[in-house]
Amino acid sequence: MREDLTIARDEIARVQEIINAVLDFARSGSSEREWFDLRQLVEQTVALLRKSMATRDVELDLELGHVPPIHAERGGLRQVALNLLTNSFQATPDGGRIGIRLWQADDDVVALSISDTGQGIPAEQISRIFNPFYTTKAPGEGTGLGLSIVYTTIQRHGGQIHVESTPGHGTTFHIRLPRESADEPVPPTPLTAAAEELLYPPPPV
Ligand SMILES: Nc1ncnc2c1ncn2[C@@H]1O[C@H](COP(=O)(O)OP(=O)(O)OP(=O)(O)O)[C@@H](O)[C@H]1O
Ligand SMILES: [Mg+2]
Repeated sequence: MREDLTIARDEIARVQEIINAVLDFARSGSSEREWFDLRQLVEQTVALLRKSMATRDVELDLELGHVPPIHAERGGLRQVALNLLTNSFQATPDGGRIGIRLWQADDDVVALSISDTGQGIPAEQISRIFNPFYTTKAPGEGTGLGLSIVYTTIQRHGGQIHVESTPGHGTTFHIRLPRESADEPVPPTPLTAAAEELLYPPPPV
């Protein structure tokens, strides 16, 4: 029994190491901040995806307002837009729509929402979607890293992300991003926190 526990702890530590390495990899090269136009970045990302989206009957509704420049990681935010749009596209059947809205929420905050009329996310899954390696896709079709990268990138910028979803109707991801922020320490991802709990369980009361 004790031996099983030791093996389990070693395995958890190993997995935690892999997760951290993969997340570090995802972060690398994108940590430089610069001033840029988020609207232009969203437009470029959409242009990149339009070709693959044209293979299916999914309509794109763009409502991209003019927003003031933001000071952020251009590569990181491109990855955020790409991951969210890819998920929406994969979840949306033919005849569906994907909406992208960008606007200035207040003086110092820009807001981006990506919505789709896809399959939605069942309530019991929603708390897990930002976990690294959580995927409902077939083996080989998804790593489950897309949303964990989105989450850590937004946190690192001092922003917020939340999701609203109705199974059978669709999903919307809402992002609020400060125009300029200190580099925020990244809080542990939900899975890392869960693994730590197993590794260092709180003392019994
Ligand atoms: N727009 C969406 N509509 C419905 N389900 C979604 C949507 N976005 C994410 N999900 C759910 O969240 C899970 C995790 O998403 P995530 O992007 O992290 O990984 P993935 O898409 O499965 O794999 P990868 O991003 O590596 O290709 C998905 O497998 C899916 O179940
Ligand atoms: Mg994905």
